[in-house]
Amino acid sequence: MKITIFGSGYVGLVTGACLAEVGNDVLCVDIDANKIAMLEKGEIPIYEPGLQKLVVNNIESGRLSFTTDIAAGVAHGLFQFIAVGTPPDEDGSADLQHVLAVAESIGTHMENYRIVVDKSTVPVGTADKVRDRIRSVLDKRGLNMEFDVVSNPEFLKEGAAVDDFMRPERIIIGTDNPRTTELLRALYTPFNRNHERIFVMDVRSAELTKYAANAMLATKISFMNELANLAERLGADIEQVRIGIGSDPRIGYHFIYPGCGYGGSCFPKDVQALGYTAKQIGYQADLLEAVKTINDRQKEVLFKKIHQHFNGELKGKIIALWGLAFKPNTDDMREAPSRTLMEALWAAGASVQAFDPAAMDETRRIYGNNSNLKLYEAPMDTLANADALVIMTEWNVFRSPDFGEIKTSLKTPVIFDGRNLYDPQRLSREGFTYYAIGRGHPSV
Ligand SMILES: NC(=O)c1ccc[n+]([C@@H]2O[C@H](COP(=O)([O-])OP(=O)(O)OC[C@H]3O[C@@H](n4cnc5c(N)ncnc54)[C@H](O)[C@@H]3O)[C@@H](O)[C@H]2O)c1
Repeated sequence: MKITIFGSGYVGLVTGACLAEVGNDVLCVDIDANKIAMLEKGEIPIYEPGLQKLVVNNIESGRLSFTTDIAAGVAHGLFQFIAVGTPPDEDGSADLQHVLAVAESIGTHMENYRIVVDKSTVPVGTADKVRDRIRSVLDKRGLNMEFDVVSNPEFLKEGAAVDDFMRPERIIIGTDNPRTTELLRALYTPFNRNHERIFVMDVRSAELTKYAANAMLATKISFMNELANLAERLGADIEQVRIGIGSDPRIGYHFIYPGCGYGGSCFPKDVQALGYTAKQIGYQADLLEAVKTINDRQKEVLFKKIHQHFNGELKGKIIALWGLAFKPNTDDMREAPSRTLMEALWAAGASVQAFDPAAMDETRRIYGNNSNLKLYEAPMDTLANADALVIMTEWNVFRSPDFGEIKTSLKTPVIFDGRNLYDPQRLSREGFTYYAIGRGHPSV
């Protein structure tokens, strides 16, 4: 099948490469000429395990190509995927300018029937807006051409995106047209072999399903962080509590890790956008508000602990930081808790020596030549002259370090662990002052 994908970011590029891998003829369109130039050479602008090989193989096989030529994109595919960003607007709503710009382009250039597939995360009612925009452009062109708009939200996780796309837990198709349903079923058949994963529903329910999934996951995290803060103050250990509640199959062990707050390009903006949607229709979404408030607070917990430990005297202190990406196996720094912490440390006069296995280029891009930030090529190198070590991201490489070496390298043996990677008793035996989340040492 011929497929065009607008937007070659995390979602668009993975979607394009995976659809090409199963035999389709895919053209990826992006307005970022630098990105397209890189991709044409088989260079991947993001860190995503397995993606580079997939892209290169499919370019070589002639099934995957890239362009900035929008008209060529509209001419190419029966399926026109929209996978552009939907960042938060100033008021917290999802900014639909990129989605509607693609709709405008499709209306401007289409010459025959097209199925417009919305993969971006968009508020309920967006498919109607996309349809209206295309229709109004066609009207201006004096054309009464047929097209369909389908909602097909994406559930891949950064860090496991290729695997998630190739072996999805669900494929949501929101449409009210049986013919489109059949065409999309055919498109997704290669990913639906093991058992039925395709769920067909009305467009609005499909749009809401994506927000519901992210809001639920964010709620789990904020719930555990709330409990962690309580545990700290009550003299309980949240890790014991986590194991105790996870054993109940109605609760389960997945996604109930306390930490230093959720980040990334999805949870923060999607919780906010759903809250905004609620407000617009006069509904008070108290739970969503609380999820966001708790997360904003949680992102400050590590700074509060550090501030308290050093009696507020952070000027001139050097803090070693392991992990910059918002989670392991990605270089994505959008809304990463590391940014909140680093910016608070700098404001207090401290400097940071950091390492991340994938996100250092992205950190350089964001913070440029900041004299209060030094990046090192190995975790242990960050410790020289440092007053404390902070764990921000639970990369595997940080899970079992040489504590003896850490102790001799740091000026004082103190660790602030935002991911509860270590055993408090062991660290105490090794002579560390160890601060974790929800395991003693309450922050003010
Ligand atoms: N990143 C994730 O893990 C993830 C997972 C599921 C869903 N989503 C959703 O998917 C959407 C895309 O997210 P992303 O992380 O891939 O974004 P991204 O920022 O990585 O990529 C978006 C791309 O779209 C391009 N673009 C913007 N306007 C364009 C236009 N008019 N024509 C062509 N290209 C254009 C940009 O240049 C950019 O390369 C968002 O709505 C997001 O919420 C993201």
